[in-house]
Amino acid sequence: MNASLGPDRRPVAVLIGFMGAGKSTVGAALAALLEVEFVDTDHEIVTRAGRSVAEVFATDGERYFRDLEVQVVLDVLGRETGVVALGGGAVMTPAVQAVLADHLVVYLEVSPDVGFVRVRSSGRPLLQPGADGTDAEQRYRALLDERVDTYRAAARLTIDTTGRDAASLADEIARALRLRPASAYRPEGSPP
Ligand code: S3P
Repeated sequence: MNASLGPDRRPVAVLIGFMGAGKSTVGAALAALLEVEFVDTDHEIVTRAGRSVAEVFATDGERYFRDLEVQVVLDVLGRETGVVALGGGAVMTPAVQAVLADHLVVYLEVSPDVGFVRVRSSGRPLLQPGADGTDAEQRYRALLDERVDTYRAAARLTIDTTGRDAASLADEIARALRLRPASAYRPEGSPP
């Protein structure tokens, strides 16, 4: 049964993973495959704040960003029935972990070598040079190390994304979770 069509109307799948894992690309591909909406919680934060994620970090700091993030994530999980991708750090908040226990969570695993190359020029606030003298790559590796157990613990399904394209990953997720396109649940001839 497709979770989005169940009585409590949860998202059909929630993608988690570190920066550079491909959550947005794979999420969009999975949503297209399942004929549902795709929502990226970082985009919602930007809409709600009226500023980029980097600007929120720079002006108000990480604590403020995390408070906004938890509100947005809980709102989105409570209302969306499509595919949802969470920002890489959202799962570290206990309130988010608690809600995710009730969802079909997919962890997209990425190696630090591949993931870092994808995000190194993106201006991600957590990869800015630290006061402690660490560079972006050291920060990327250390943060991933710190989080990996939490990602795995939150997930129903963990997928290694190494060398895979978004379409094949979307296909694997749909098969593993037995998710079918929305049209497969509609009586023949009924409008979408
Ligand atoms: C963060 C990941 C980012 C964004 C913010 C913080 C993190 O999202 O939410 O920069 O703590 O890992 P992506 O995972 O989409 O890069």
